[in-house]
Amino acid sequence: MSRARRVAVVGATGAVGQEFLAVLAERRFPLASLRLLASPRSAGRRLRFAGEELPVEPLTPDAFRGVDLALFSAGGTVAREYARHAVAAGAVVVDNSSAFRMDPNVPLVVPEINLAAARNHQGVIANPNCSTILLCLTLRPLQVAAGLRRVVVSTYQAASGAGQRAMEELRAATTSLVLEGRRPAPKVLPHSLAFNLFPQVDVFTEGGFTREEDKMQNETRKILDLPDLPVEATCVRVPVERCHSESVSVELDRSLTPAAAREAFVRAAGVVVVDGDPAYPMPVFVAGTDPVAVGRIRASRAFAHGLCYWLVGDQLRKGAALNAVQIAENL
Ligand SMILES: NC(=O)c1ccc[n+]([C@@H]2O[C@H](COP(=O)([O-])OP(=O)(O)OC[C@H]3O[C@@H](n4cnc5c(N)ncnc54)[C@H](OP(=O)(O)O)[C@@H]3O)[C@@H](O)[C@H]2O)c1
Repeated sequence: MSRARRVAVVGATGAVGQEFLAVLAERRFPLASLRLLASPRSAGRRLRFAGEELPVEPLTPDAFRGVDLALFSAGGTVAREYARHAVAAGAVVVDNSSAFRMDPNVPLVVPEINLAAARNHQGVIANPNCSTILLCLTLRPLQVAAGLRRVVVSTYQAASGAGQRAMEELRAATTSLVLEGRRPAPKVLPHSLAFNLFPQVDVFTEGGFTREEDKMQNETRKILDLPDLPVEATCVRVPVERCHSESVSVELDRSLTPAAAREAFVRAAGVVVVDGDPAYPMPVFVAGTDPVAVGRIRASRAFAHGLCYWLVGDQLRKGAALNAVQIAENL
């Protein structure tokens, strides 16, 4: 039987959707057919894929007829409404939204960490939050080497993490400020991001945390299978186009020298070490690449068995499209 799959990309015109097309083409994913779906706003648009122009079709309940694999990146509302139609049509759904991530019947998968969980799917597999995927790829080798006791993380999240329109808003506002000295009012992001940053990603929840910070705690616990792990996140939006960065401090069960941690990172799949004087990972160098880059690895001054490090990962690739395609490749 042919391995080629009939694939639909839901949200194909978006930031993650565009990256899906790039990743499917680059990795030569075995395609029998490819259907591009988006909202009625995109009717009539055509998108380039592997040298061809494909039409964008409107998402409808029967758009999944004859589809084996549906890659969703159109937000939680669309996923909640349409994933069941895809599953009913016989497709496996890999969803990028937060709609199903904490459902105990839905695997939440980072292939380098818990691929086996994907085998228990009942039609839907959830792709984790972008900042969480990058963090977990680096936490796993430390968990294996010395046990994890607690995690404190601050993120520096790119505009594209809030979608295509947020990235365009940052570009337009930066141009307007430089050329005209005028700061336009934001329409997509909660504040103007040009030459600015703000400590809010997603909406506020309980105890002064935000939903993004809650996701980082809850999803990390599920992926690493550590249901009580304390994970304290502060998520910050920064005027970077692409790539999330994170400053991480961990307390471990047993002591691990920075040199041993570096070795663990070097051996870990999906991680690359960029650590020296003066080398460290930065978004401009990591954008468009697959692994999460780790540097500034050092002993903690706050925790007895502690380490600090810095990571940068392309959240549109490993934080979203690439991770989902890797899941699909392994099904
Ligand atoms: N951006 C990231 O770095 C990132 C990382 C991980 C996960 N995610 C998640 O991935 C999802 C997509 O994010 P994004 O950044 O790609 O957003 P985006 O750039 O705003 O794209 C949204 C996509 O969804 C489509 N869409 C919106 N409403 C729709 C509807 N009612 N019916 C059909 N299609 C609809 C849009 O189509 P139109 O163009 O026709 O409006 C567009 O293709 C979100 O759940 C997000 O949380 C994003």
